[in-house]
Amino acid sequence: LENHEEKRDYVFKAAVIGDSAVGKTHLLSWFTKNKFCFDSKSTIGVEFQTRTVTIEGKVVTAQIWDTAGQDRYRAVTSAYYRGAMGAMLLYDITKRPTFDHVARWLEELRAHADNSIVITLIGNKADLVDQRVVPTEDAVEFAENQGLFFSETSALSGDNVDRAFFRLLEEIY
Ligand code: GTP
Repeated sequence: LENHEEKRDYVFKAAVIGDSAVGKTHLLSWFTKNKFCFDSKSTIGVEFQTRTVTIEGKVVTAQIWDTAGQDRYRAVTSAYYRGAMGAMLLYDITKRPTFDHVARWLEELRAHADNSIVITLIGNKADLVDQRVVPTEDAVEFAENQGLFFSETSALSGDNVDRAFFRLLEEIY
């Protein structure tokens, strides 16, 4: 572990944002622990998790902040956009309002975060195929218009989770 620390080349700070219950905490746990955590409580305030990965031969520690989606914590979270190089902006493919709110989250990001921040739009809960209400094409079009990367993920099965995070980290790099 000590060796590992010594070899660390970069620390990248990123934030996971989006409405409450879209799966931010679970997506992040999948990426950092490669498992779905069945213990489900709403995030209070802000916390972060890390995972160390190798990108183009460099040791990169991704420090990813999990911000609570509930409105009453918004004042707390805005401070944490500072210094963030990337953001995962989540909505739930089974809940239309969470997609409709993406524009508002983008505004908040653009108001508080660095201009160069790399943003990935994530349609989470892609495993719930029968309950889908947000068509992939709508999100693809929105992402293209806004200059965002886009992925659909499942924090339950882990589908696409690593790929989406790696793409974000590679883009930051
Ligand atoms: P806040 O902390 O309130 O902001 O919520 P959050 O966005 O962090 O959501 P959280 O990760 O706590 O997940 C909310 C609920 O959705 C939990 O009951 C999870 O088990 C469930 N969930 C999260 N991701 C997925 C997924 O990809 N598929 C399915 N089927 N359920 C998911």
